[in-house]
This record gives sequence, C-alpha cells and structure tokens, in this order.
Amino acid sequence: MGHLQNRNIIIGVTGGIAAYKIAETIRLLRRAGASVRVIMSRGAQAFMTPLTLQSLSGHPVHTDLLDETAEMGMGHIELARWADAYLIAPATADTLARLAMGRADDLLTTTALATPAPLFVAPAMNQQMWASQATTANMKLLLDRGVHVIGPESGEQACGDIGAGRLSEPSDIYAAIDAFFPTGKLAGKKVIITAGPTLEPIDPVRFISNHSSGKMGFALAQAAAEAGADTVLICGPVTLETPAGVTRIDIRTAAEMLDACRLYSATPVDLFIGSAAVADYRPQTAAEQKIKKGGASITMELVRNPDIIGEMAQMNPRPAVVVGFAAETEDLVDHAQAKRLAKQLDVIVANDVSRVDIGFNSDANAVTWIDESGAETIAMTTKNNLAKIVIERCAGLLGSSADLEFSGREGAGS
Ligand code: CTP
Repeated sequence: MGHLQNRNIIIGVTGGIAAYKIAETIRLLRRAGASVRVIMSRGAQAFMTPLTLQSLSGHPVHTDLLDETAEMGMGHIELARWADAYLIAPATADTLARLAMGRADDLLTTTALATPAPLFVAPAMNQQMWASQATTANMKLLLDRGVHVIGPESGEQACGDIGAGRLSEPSDIYAAIDAFFPTGKLAGKKVIITAGPTLEPIDPVRFISNHSSGKMGFALAQAAAEAGADTVLICGPVTLETPAGVTRIDIRTAAEMLDACRLYSATPVDLFIGSAAVADYRPQTAAEQKIKKGGASITMELVRNPDIIGEMAQMNPRPAVVVGFAAETEDLVDHAQAKRLAKQLDVIVANDVSRVDIGFNSDANAVTWIDESGAETIAMTTKNNLAKIVIERCAGLLGSSADLEFSGREGAGS
C-alpha cells in the first residue's frame, strides 16, 4: 500500500448504531499513514463518546460549528481545506438528505460544503429507509454530483430486519478510500481497455447495438492513467469525455474494435481489460442502400462476431493480465466463472444486471471479482471508485505476474 501516507482524512460520524465500526476504520487509516480528524454529529455522540475517537485519532474531536476553543485550534474552514478526503460514515438517511439539499446547519454538513476534497459516504440505516423513494432520490443527487458511495451491505440489521442498509465493514471502507489516491503503481505499464457498445450496421441508417454507456470502461481508463499507465481506450459510440492522459480510439463495429486491439498490441501489452459490450452477432451483410419496406416481415441473417478478449488472451505474447467483464442475470458466479475459463481470462468482473439500482446506465455498480481462487464481492460503490479498486487489484496481479500462470492453460503453452 503506502499511498495513504501523509494523506489528510476527515471522518464525519453521524448517529447510527454502526458508529462503533468507525473506531476500526480510523485505526486502519492511521496504520496506513493517514492523519485523521473526526467530526461527530450530536446524534453520533449518543452512540459513542468523543473521547473514544479522540484517543483513536490522536486529535480532539470536532463537534460544534460555533465552538470557540475548537475554532482556535483548527477552524472549520481550515479543517475543510486541510482534507484530502472527507468520509461520512455511518451516513444516516437524514444526513444523506441534508447533504443532498446542501444544508449547512451543523459542522458536519458545513464541512461537506466547504471542502474541495472528494466526499465519500457510507450509508447505514434500516432497509426500508434505504429502499424509500426519498433516500433513492437523494442518493441519485449525490451520485450525480460525484459523491463516492461505499456500500451499504445486505444482511441482518440491528433492528432485526434483513436487507440492504448495513454499514460496510471497516476493511471495505478503508479499501475504497485507499484505492482513491493515485498510486503510480502502473508506471511504465501498457494498458488497453475496450469500452461502450459496438454498432453493427444493417444499412446506411440502421444498426444493431445495445445500451452500454461506456462509463465503466472510461472510469477504468482514467484510473489506469492516474496510476501512471500508458493507456489506450478503444471505444464504441459513446458521449463521454476522454479522461486526461488517455489515448482514445473510436470505433463502430466489433471487427473495427478487434483491428484496433491488434494494432495497439504491436508492442507487448501488460494489462488488457475488456469492458465493452461487444455485439455477439452482426448482420451478414450491411445493405449499401437504405432497405425499403416491402412485405409483412423481413428476415435478416446474423453471423457471429469475433471474440475480441478471447483472441487477446491467446495472443503471442499474451498480455500479462487479461480481465473480462460479465453481465449476468442469473447464476452470476457459475456463469461468469465458466466464461472466464472458456475465454482463458485471469479475472472476470461479474455484475448482476438484473438489479435495477446498478449496472448498465447507472453511476454505481456492485460486482464480484472472480479469479482462479474463487469469487469475492466488492461492495457497491461509484463506477469511478470501483474502477480504482479494479485497477489497484490488477496492479497487484501485475506486480506478481512473473509467477502468474493462468490456471486453465496448463499444457497449452507451459
Ligand atoms: N467480449 C469480447 N468480444 C465479444 C464478446 C464479448 O471481447 N465478441 C468480452 C466482453 O468485453 C467481456 C467478456 O467478453 O469482457 C464477456 O462478455 P459477455 O457479453 O458477457 O459474454 P459473452 O461471451 O458474449 O456471453 P453471453 O452473451 O452468452 O453471456
């Protein structure tokens, strides 16, 4: 790790039974070298004393907007400017509502407005409150503003209910913050990422395509570039800004995407990530002229498109790490694991597209990381933050890629 060294983190604690988990979160952040300052809401102080968090953070806890003594130490504006990241955990439904409205009626919310640092929220509440229309609308507002969301998790709740609303575990909260900061871990590495849909023409005005927004792939490219990689993003038609430092190649069809992947693999690739939603089939021939309507029905012959990531995984020399994405609606792990083995991928990142709150066009995502050792869930978070986590993990794999041997390739090249 090491990229939290000397980072300044404010933790805003609000009133929830899960507040006790913050003690461990502070410990993890400080152990990684971060300086931590704590703000507690009035509600939080009903669950935990400021003295506990003062001992753990090593600094007096800030509780009041208009506290003369605290303002003489580090005033709230100074505190807001000091931060490299502001984490609010647990974030109650009320806190999310007040953040969404831009309220500034206590120190915790005022600091959220006053800080230029990225804001992270880790919601925790009763499952019914989390699922309510009001909370959903507030979360959408916060996500649209670029707030990073960590969790919540599903499971048994303090109130006895079962469902989504549990505060993420300290180790997950820590990992999300840790992954946010640039690491430079991909310096000198070459990364190719495919993103967005492909568009398969039927005639000059019609095509077959899908709803992929490209957001995940663009977020991955940004994270890879921030980690220092020479990053090539090969994308279908999307309306997204090219991330800084990324070479963007626009293509339309799967065949063009494959050509671009081959072209940019002329020099060895360290990491290939296939996040594109490649059309599996294309019309056998695209009509040169617009097809005129005629009888009551029309038949079109579709033929298979090349499997781009499959070809990349068999290329010689092969990228050291090949990562696919799988969109599944049922038996997520089994289907994705089968896909990983069939395509000879090191990792497949699977997401459940049957869930309406995440996936294709949303800004948030929850995925399962599947490799030869099994499946591991990554807590729901923004696509930007998820991208950083995925890139961080890939960098970890690349670090040990000298001894990396794809488990399904025995005999094929060894
Ligand atoms: N992929 C690819 N080329 C294709 C199809 C898919 O490179 N022609 C890549 C995707 O970018 C993704 C992975 O393969 O990384 C899985 O894609 P997915 O569409 O979920 O799998 P399919 O193999 O198409 O299987 P199915 O549609 O039957 O679920």
